[in-house]
Amino acid sequence: MKNRAVVRIVKGMPARDGAGVSLTRVIGSPELDMLDPFLLLDSFASDDPDDYIAGFPPHPHRGFETVTYMLAGQMRHEDNTGRSGIIGPGGVQWMTAGRGIVHSEMPEQEDGLMHGFQLWVNLPGKEKMTQPHYREYPASEIPVEQRDPGTQVRVITGTTHLGTQGPVTDVVTDPLYLDVRLAKEATFTEDLPPGHTAFIYVVSGQVFVTEDADGGHVVEQHSLAVLGEGERVEITGLTDTAHLLLIAGRPLGEPVARGGPFVMNTRDELMQAFRDYQSGNF
Ligand code: CO
Repeated sequence: MKNRAVVRIVKGMPARDGAGVSLTRVIGSPELDMLDPFLLLDSFASDDPDDYIAGFPPHPHRGFETVTYMLAGQMRHEDNTGRSGIIGPGGVQWMTAGRGIVHSEMPEQEDGLMHGFQLWVNLPGKEKMTQPHYREYPASEIPVEQRDPGTQVRVITGTTHLGTQGPVTDVVTDPLYLDVRLAKEATFTEDLPPGHTAFIYVVSGQVFVTEDADGGHVVEQHSLAVLGEGERVEITGLTDTAHLLLIAGRPLGEPVARGGPFVMNTRDELMQAFRDYQSGNF
């Protein structure tokens, strides 16, 4: 089996979104426009309420899925179908915006650490106008795979080679979303479907991605490493603890017409999304 090598490392750039939330945009920036099927990855991590308190007041989405994964803090969401809930530490919300949803995501705290990620996963053209829906799981419903001493894998979606399946199933791009914690010198390996786009994002610590007997790449904290072709990934912790996300998905290979909160295939479909939203047709 061929190990996937690191083909590119991206640090992300500071950005503000929503009503002024400070975040790091790792995918969806001038440096890394997209990683088909992933359109955006934002990381937010701050214990300064001024960085997050304004939250994300009501805004629309059409044509893709948004995935919110929290490590610390609480976020309350509400949408125009009348549903609402709170995502806490270790919890995930997988929202399929489909033909359109208007939602808000607001911090449910006035101080303390807020830490999490938002990932946008594209939908193929034939699914872009599907009914909106979402799945939400607290930390207690996300299986944890204990591997060698010091290796812990939380499975949000996809199935590991040891058979642990995440609660989010039947996603059209067949994604894998793992949260991996590694002790120093512990090694984690996982199979990745050939042809799937794959990357790691190092949340904290430092890891080594082994390419072959001759070597590999060090990946530092707060860096995204794009993985090349191959069947599996092999990662060793270099620091006392290392924490990373491993994310993979089947690329769609379709044209992308992107405008703010809408992601369609063509410019006309994008214009239609703005018209539908403005006329209250969401
Ligand atoms: Co949103």
